[in-house]
Amino acid sequence: MTLLSWRDDYRVGVPLIDTEHQYLIALINEFHDKHANRITRPLATFVLNRLVSYAEEHFQHEETLMLKIGFPRLAHQQKLHEQLYFSIFLLQEELSREDAIADGKTMRFLRHWLLDHILDEDMDIGDFLRRKNAKAAQAAEEEEYRQAEEKAAAQAPIKVETATLEVVPE
Ligand SMILES: [Fe+2]
Repeated sequence: MTLLSWRDDYRVGVPLIDTEHQYLIALINEFHDKHANRITRPLATFVLNRLVSYAEEHFQHEETLMLKIGFPRLAHQQKLHEQLYFSIFLLQEELSREDAIADGKTMRFLRHWLLDHILDEDMDIGDFLRRKNAKAAQAAEEEEYRQAEEKAAAQAPIKVETATLEVVPE
């Protein structure tokens, strides 16, 4: 059974972030599928290691993007990323022990680890970017209107020719 299924309401609206979240979901599902079977368990460890390193890359990508768009709560998000990374790193350490087995609690943790991150934090990035783009579009439209008005005002006034009545003598 699949642990996590991608849903449209997980979409942040930033293609890079959404693609990376889908990959994180795929890795968590892969770990979930492989961990229970004794034969595939080494593969699960391999997938978990990949998840930890990919999470780090993903957080870096998000932080670079937040910096680029001027996201106001970057420092707060960085702190949360650090905590998220640390918690998954601890899990990796824990599961690297010979006798350690990932159980239901581990899976619930992974599920929350990703979904809380997407739904609580990353949605804010998408919302901020949409508001920023809407504001920029509105400013561009206002500027276009202002320029058109300026151009119209600068044009020479239309001359109205007055017809002269010629009086033809009889
Ligand atoms: Fe994210």
